[in-house]
Amino acid sequence: MNDQKWIVETIEKIREKIKWVSEKNKDKIPYTTNEDGSYDDRSDAAKNWNADDGLNWWTNGFWGGIMWMLYQDTKDKSYIDIARICEKKLEQTFTGFYGLHHDVGFMFMPTAVADYRLTGDGRARKAALHAANLLAGRFNPQGNYIRAWNDSPDQDTRGWAIIDCMFNISLLYWASKETQDPRYQHIAMRHADSVMENFIRKDGSSIHIGEFNPETGMFVKSHGGQGYGEGSAWTRGQGWALYGFVNSYTNSGKEEYLDTAKRVAHYCIANIPESGIIPIDFRQPAKPALEDSCGACVIAGGMIELAKYVPDNEKQIYLRPAVKILKAITKTRVDWSRDCDAIVQNCSGAYHDSRHHFTMVYADYFYIEAIYKLNGIGMLMW
Ligand code: GLY
Repeated sequence: MNDQKWIVETIEKIREKIKWVSEKNKDKIPYTTNEDGSYDDRSDAAKNWNADDGLNWWTNGFWGGIMWMLYQDTKDKSYIDIARICEKKLEQTFTGFYGLHHDVGFMFMPTAVADYRLTGDGRARKAALHAANLLAGRFNPQGNYIRAWNDSPDQDTRGWAIIDCMFNISLLYWASKETQDPRYQHIAMRHADSVMENFIRKDGSSIHIGEFNPETGMFVKSHGGQGYGEGSAWTRGQGWALYGFVNSYTNSGKEEYLDTAKRVAHYCIANIPESGIIPIDFRQPAKPALEDSCGACVIAGGMIELAKYVPDNEKQIYLRPAVKILKAITKTRVDWSRDCDAIVQNCSGAYHDSRHHFTMVYADYFYIEAIYKLNGIGMLMW
């Protein structure tokens, strides 16, 4: 099947599926599906809002983001209503405050910022600026990094930054443009510079967690995080690095960010298996064959974005692997039926988790985003 036919057919399937899934789940903020295929709800009032797996859960912006993508595509206003149910719930996290973390970028870019960009809504703008200020407040000028997580009872994480944050800083770039106040962008670029120096290895791969001394700012060491181990290459983290540096380039114009994105992309391209099915970690053992469709979609989205900023004769270097990955997912790892609320199957949170190969709302988000990008639908959310 030629690419354009496949893309158009896949978009039609996305429209059909998200229409009923969104109506069925409009009062929820889902993360994954239950045994019976129905979505769970991270905004369930029974959950402690102060815990990081309830309203503060880092993926809670992706459901709203899917609604805004579908709205842009179909102009169906019911998607605005559903996105705003989610947004109003997310705003409650500001009152809670303690449970929030650096992932306010992931939470509020595809919701409040998308809402404001598309509708000019003042309430959404206020929420987005509030989130940007919280994110800026996590910056440590010793070491030039944004602190990722809050302490747990047994872990001091004052010096921890993680590669995922390359996505969160888009919120800071947006806040600077919106307010004409360069402080946010300065923080974003200092963080990106520090990640470029300390996280990206010579071979183009990225570490997941980097630990700084929070008093002196010296880089201490890396941690394996959600990947196979220290020194490994967690695939979703490669996606956060690749796509995140493209975003930093588009938001700041700094060429070194684009070069860094290319280096990470070339590391990924050299390691994509023949099948196009992406493992949890590019350096994991061959057996068990653990995979992560979510990381696959993030990498594909980053490649498609990167292709926009290279000369015409280089675009296929990035588009070809992106299409290969997305075709592999579309052929064997999606569920268009009514048996499951999610589309993308076989996602994994972390290599050493006891559970693998389940659904994740952000896999659906990045799958839809990548397919839409191939057809030029929608604005860049990041
Ligand atoms: N830590 C974010 C992720 O699972 O990708």
